[in-house]
Amino acid sequence: MRIAWRCALCLLFCALAWSASKYAGWLEHVPDSDRHRANPYSGQTDAVAAGSRLFSDHCAKCHGQDALGSKKKPSLRTPEVQQASDGEIFWLLRNGDLRHGMPSWSAIPEPSRWQIITYVKSLGVNLQGSAR
Ligand code: HEC
Repeated sequence: MRIAWRCALCLLFCALAWSASKYAGWLEHVPDSDRHRANPYSGQTDAVAAGSRLFSDHCAKCHGQDALGSKKKPSLRTPEVQQASDGEIFWLLRNGDLRHGMPSWSAIPEPSRWQIITYVKSLGVNLQGSAR
């Protein structure tokens, strides 16, 4: 019985610690090898155009056609996103952040994902309408 109580207390403590720990963000989970991956389309205008179409198809419904986000969905024109490396965003698109409502896009072919990133990066920083 006493052991059972200790287990229960321990579980309770773990649950509290877990819920109290502030979520540090997906960026911290990106392994170095992914962080430094180069975008084969970086800065290419064709890729921006292709990425823009893909963004409309897959991303705009949550992040907005202008990528400024909405109340519950983050803007992609924040310094956090614009200053993230292409490799970091690529990691996020592959893995998603399901607990926070960001789906995985691993079903979209890799070249298309890089094009989407090229497009997002072409938008630059614009804090207007940012949900944060
Ligand atoms: C179903 C809604 C939904 C769709 C569709 C969606 N996202 Fe997201 N996305 C989210 C949410 C919610 C977050 C916030 C996750 C978090 O807090 O970690 C997010 C986060 C992000 C972030 C990180 C933002 C930050 O400030 O850390 C990027 C980059 C991103 N999404 C890009 C995309 C791209 C590119 C697409 C299209 C391929 C896309 N998203 C499609 C819901 C969505």
